[in-house]
Amino acid sequence: MTSPIPTRTQVAIVGAGPSGLLLGQLLHKAGIDAVILERQSGEYVLGRIRAGIIEQTTAELLDEAGVGARMHREGLPHDGFDLASDGGRLRIDLARLTGGKRVMVYGQTEITHDLMDARAAAGLPTVYEARDVTPLDYDGEHPRVRYTTQDGLVHELQCDVIAGCDGFHGACRASLAPERITTYEKVYPFGWLGLLADVPPVAHELIYANHERGFALASMRSMTRSRYYVQVSADERVEDWSDQRFWDELAQRLGPETAAHLVTGPSIEKSIVPLRSFVAEPMRFGRMFLAGDAAHIVPPTGAKGLNLAASDVGYLARALVEFFKERSTLGIDHYSQRCLRRIWKAERFSWWFTSLMHRFPETGAFGRRMQQAELDYLTHSVAAQTALAENYVGLPFED
Ligand code: APR
Ligand code: PHB
Repeated sequence: MTSPIPTRTQVAIVGAGPSGLLLGQLLHKAGIDAVILERQSGEYVLGRIRAGIIEQTTAELLDEAGVGARMHREGLPHDGFDLASDGGRLRIDLARLTGGKRVMVYGQTEITHDLMDARAAAGLPTVYEARDVTPLDYDGEHPRVRYTTQDGLVHELQCDVIAGCDGFHGACRASLAPERITTYEKVYPFGWLGLLADVPPVAHELIYANHERGFALASMRSMTRSRYYVQVSADERVEDWSDQRFWDELAQRLGPETAAHLVTGPSIEKSIVPLRSFVAEPMRFGRMFLAGDAAHIVPPTGAKGLNLAASDVGYLARALVEFFKERSTLGIDHYSQRCLRRIWKAERFSWWFTSLMHRFPETGAFGRRMQQAELDYLTHSVAAQTALAENYVGLPFED
């Protein structure tokens, strides 16, 4: 930042991930001031590769924030995806099952990029590489956030509201006394090893595969860039996976018919993410609000993480407009409850889809039979497919 660091704002946003950046943009559109404090550099934030399936309501929110143009130009609308298991394939026809709804394939990295560009173009303040960010006094009417800049100087930002958009390991949730917050967690005994490569995708739609060697996902970022994942055990190290080993494993799990179309190439990025379900309740503490990964994590099966972050921020932006512009606390009073209703349903769906598609050594032959029965049920029941489809495209916003 070249301009002087502000000492007072209406909303102090902690974290410049998708949640913080989208909130900043929605508030700006509504004429509400915000300053973002981010621990990392902008380049570091952009280097994180995450999921890329955008629900229609998320796309609408990006439009509302004025950052949807490139997504509409470059994103790939998808009307369906495939489930593969035991040599069989089932296409989930999202558009037909949901009365015309679809999802957009567009990387989270690109969304972050678009949001950062819009923020810079509007000259809105972001302090990158802010260390020791500490939210203070949020139980009263005059909260503050203390932080240290790169030059070692300690600053304080006075504000009316703090938005904790600082992810799972952030400072805002961590600042709370444990008795004020209830957490729910399930840690899965495996992770996803992901590989990004500039090769055309193996199929024009996504394939979620349940194979005896473990789950695999064929996804994409564009018609020339593919994103693939394989389930690996929790203690696996990325260094032990050469590109060749990854491609061989993926080919086996996708099966010979699909693998015949697989184009391989050097990886641009390769990393392992652990799988976790997590919810912290409530999401409001006086004048501090948690949003996105700061309050909840879903396993990536179904790609709900970014979409949930966006719906939190949608609710929060509306609530803050009511608070600042209409002097009404109705929105902020209902914020936590509104978000959590949607979050728990997305938690349920992500947990269910994870349970259906992965290999769980500890559930044995019975667990496997349950998966097979569920997949058979899905294959022959439009009702079951509809339940999957309506969750995948995203549940509607409720008031
Ligand atoms: N001080 C300032 N910033 C912090 C701090 C801190 N103490 N701790 C974390 N941050 C920053 C991180 O560096 C990161 O840039 O907060 C940001 C949080 O961003 P994300 O982790 O991307 O979380 P969120 O914006 O809620 O986005 C949710 O990201 O993890 C995916 O699946 C998830 O797609 C979803 C999306
Ligand atoms: C991805 O492209 O990274 C992706 C797609 C779908 C998912 C998860 C991740 O369910």
